[in-house]
Amino acid sequence: MSELSVNHLLGIKYLNEKDIQLIFETADHFKEVINRSIKKVPSLRDITIANIFFENSTRTKLSFELAEKRLSADVINFSAAQSSVKKGETLIDTVNNILSMKVDMVVMRHPNPGAGIFLSKNVKAAIINAGDGAHEHPTQALLDSFSIREKLGDVTGKKVVIVGDILHSRVALSNIFALKLQGATVKVCGPKTLLPKHIESLGVTVESDLRKALNWCDVANMLRVQNERMDMSYFPTTREYAQQFGINKTLLDSLDKEIVIMHPGPINRGVEISSDVADSKQSIILNQVENGVAIRMAVIYLLASQIK
Ligand code: CP
Repeated sequence: MSELSVNHLLGIKYLNEKDIQLIFETADHFKEVINRSIKKVPSLRDITIANIFFENSTRTKLSFELAEKRLSADVINFSAAQSSVKKGETLIDTVNNILSMKVDMVVMRHPNPGAGIFLSKNVKAAIINAGDGAHEHPTQALLDSFSIREKLGDVTGKKVVIVGDILHSRVALSNIFALKLQGATVKVCGPKTLLPKHIESLGVTVESDLRKALNWCDVANMLRVQNERMDMSYFPTTREYAQQFGINKTLLDSLDKEIVIMHPGPINRGVEISSDVADSKQSIILNQVENGVAIRMAVIYLLASQIK
C-alpha cells in the first residue's frame, strides 16, 4: 500500500503532490462509505485519538470527531477552557498526561503558530494540526481542493482567487500551498492592509479590484475578516469592506461567466458574502463541510497505518 511521506500532518508545506493525490483517492473511498446506510468501517478499532482544542471550532472539531467515529477509533475530547491548562499546566505536560492514557494520535487546534510542530518534536504520538494561529489549516485546504476537484473535475489548470483577510488567514496560506502543488493558478484580492508583504514570493499574484479578480477566476474562496486576530482596525468600516471586497448577488450575476463560490466558514453574512450568494446554486460551502469528514477520515487512516 502507498504511504504518506510524513508521519504527522503539520502543514501542507510538508506534503508533496503524491501525498495529496493519495489523500484524495483514500477520501474518494471514504466519501462512498459515509453515503451508505451503514456509515462506519472497523479500520481503526485499535487506535485511540485525542482531540485537543485550545481555540473555538464548530466544523473542524465535529468533523474530526465524526471521522474518527466512522473509522471506529476510540475518541476523547479535550477543551482547554474546562481543563487544568487554566491552572497553569504546560502544553507538553498536558499532552503527555493524555498520552499516558494510551492515546495514539492527537488532533490539535491552537492559537499559536507552530504549536503542532513544537508538539511533534516533544511528544510520542502522531500529530494532526487542526489550525495553528495564522499559520496553517491543512485539512481545510485539502477539503477545499477536494471540493474543487469534485465540482470541476480537476484542480490542475484552474484559476482560484482567495479574497479577503489574507494576512491573518491560515486557510489562505494552506490553500496557496495546496493549490500551487496541484498546478492551479492563484490570485489573492483584499485591502492592502490585509495582504502580507511579499505575498508574491509564494507564487501568487495580487489584484485589488474584486470585479476583475472574479471575472478572471474559475473559483472564488471568500474569507472571513478575522477580527479576533486584530489589535487595530485594518479598514475604515465594515460597510466599506463589504462594498469593496464582499460578494453579493448583483455582482455575481453581472460577471462574464459562472464561477464557483467557496467559504471555509464561519460566514459573516452581509460582510464578505451576502446570504443570497452563500445559499446560491453556485456556492459549494456545504459540500466543503461534507467533504471535510471524508478528507479527515483519509488523513487519520493513512497516518494511523504508519504508526509503528
Ligand atoms: N473552517 C473552520 O476551521 O471552521 P471552524 O473554526 O468552525 O472549525
